[in-house]
Amino acid sequence: MKVVIRDVRISDAEIIARINVDTWRSAYAGLIDEKTLQNLSYSDKVNGWKNRIESLDDRTQIFVAELNNELVGFALAGQEQQDPSIKSKQYKGELMAIYVSEKFQRKGIGTQLVLKVADYFISNNINSTCVWTLKENPYSDFYDKLGAELIDSKPHLIDQKEYTLISYGWKDNKSIMNSNQSKIANNKK
Ligand SMILES: CC(C)(COP(=O)(O)OP(=O)(O)OC[C@H]1O[C@@H](n2cnc3c(N)ncnc32)[C@H](O)[C@@H]1OP(=O)(O)O)[C@@H](O)C(=O)NCCC(=O)NCCS
Repeated sequence: MKVVIRDVRISDAEIIARINVDTWRSAYAGLIDEKTLQNLSYSDKVNGWKNRIESLDDRTQIFVAELNNELVGFALAGQEQQDPSIKSKQYKGELMAIYVSEKFQRKGIGTQLVLKVADYFISNNINSTCVWTLKENPYSDFYDKLGAELIDSKPHLIDQKEYTLISYGWKDNKSIMNSNQSKIANNKK
């Protein structure tokens, strides 16, 4: 299975928006209020992602994963996280979003995206990374398996409803590369 990870292009915004909405609906059904999920709008998200892609600077990047020329996942990496949490502040890079289309999950694509983000941070002298996720997210094991440790939690409002976010962190981005590169080399499925 040949996965290509590349920098985002503006023409990717529509597919990114679709993956974003569809994975929220499939992954967070039962976790996030049904109305919030129903109200997600492809067109709002397309505009949002277009703006994000256009405003990328030397401190943020979006990487996309392609399988047989089809965009199947993406990750947003930011070098300066704005979180007020003291514990999370010790982590200089933030994995701000990562999504893989449901049909292509558990094939190692998310791992390849995280490795690319770690590599990007290392090249920019950012040595550590954190990520926030919903406390009950059944996908949190993904971070665990990649060697991240649980660091913090905070309340978070979505459509006026309060949820709890938890953060995971890697203190050393090189360790992400060292511990996980072999998984890609032995690419299973
Ligand atoms: C989380 C996500 C990005 C992972 O991408 P992926 O391509 O499926 O991940 P990988 O195939 O690289 O998984 C690597 C390992 O993580 C663990 N893992 C991944 N998804 C898991 C799940 N749903 N449950 C338990 N463990 C999981 C497994 O150990 C897996 O290895 P294995 O398949 O050999 O057992 C993807 O599943 C996704 O988009 N989920 C929905 C959205 C989401 O929750 N994003 C994160 C928001 S912060």
